[in-house]
Amino acid sequence: MTEVSKEIKYRRDVGVDPNEISRRKVLGFIGWGTFWATIAATLAGTGRYMFPEVTYEESPIFKAGSPKEYLPGVSTKYLASQRVWIINDGGIIYALIAICTHLGCTPDWLPNENKFKCNCHGSGYYISGVNYEGPAPRAMERAKIYVDETGELVVDKSKKFLYEDGGWENPESFVKV
Ligand code: FES
Repeated sequence: MTEVSKEIKYRRDVGVDPNEISRRKVLGFIGWGTFWATIAATLAGTGRYMFPEVTYEESPIFKAGSPKEYLPGVSTKYLASQRVWIINDGGIIYALIAICTHLGCTPDWLPNENKFKCNCHGSGYYISGVNYEGPAPRAMERAKIYVDETGELVVDKSKKFLYEDGGWENPESFVKV
C-alpha cells in the first residue's frame, strides 16, 4: 500500500474527506509553478538588462564631394542613400531634406517643371523647398552644410533649418559658390 493510499484509508477511517489530499497536492503544484514562473521572469528581466536592445543607426553626417561637382540645379546623387538633394541655386549650395512636410513621403524632382511634386497627396514645392500647392503645411527642411578642411562638402542631417523661422539665413544652412 502506497503512502497516499494509506493516507486515504486513514482519512476515511477517521471520517475526513480523502479528496483533501489531492486538493493539497494541486495547491502544492500551483505554488511551485508560481515560484518557478517568478524565477524565470526575473531571469528574463535580468537578461534584458545585461543585453539591451541596441539599434545601430547610420551617421547623419556624410561627405558630398567637391562643391564644383554641383552645376546649377538639383542633384539627386544622395537621394536614395541619404534622402537629401544637393542643390546649386543662384550662387549657393544647400542640402534639402527630401521629406514632404505633409505626411513624410519623398517628393519627386520634376526638372521640366522646375519643382518638387509629392505624389502622395499632391503637394508642390519650389526648387528652394518652399511649398506652394497641396496640403503641405510648410517648406521642406534644409540640413547643415559646410566645406571641410579638405575642400569637400559635408552634410549634417542632425542639424536642420526651417524657412519659417528664418533658419535659411543661417550661414550653416548653405555654402556660397
Ligand atoms: S505626404 Fe506629401 S502631400 Fe501628403
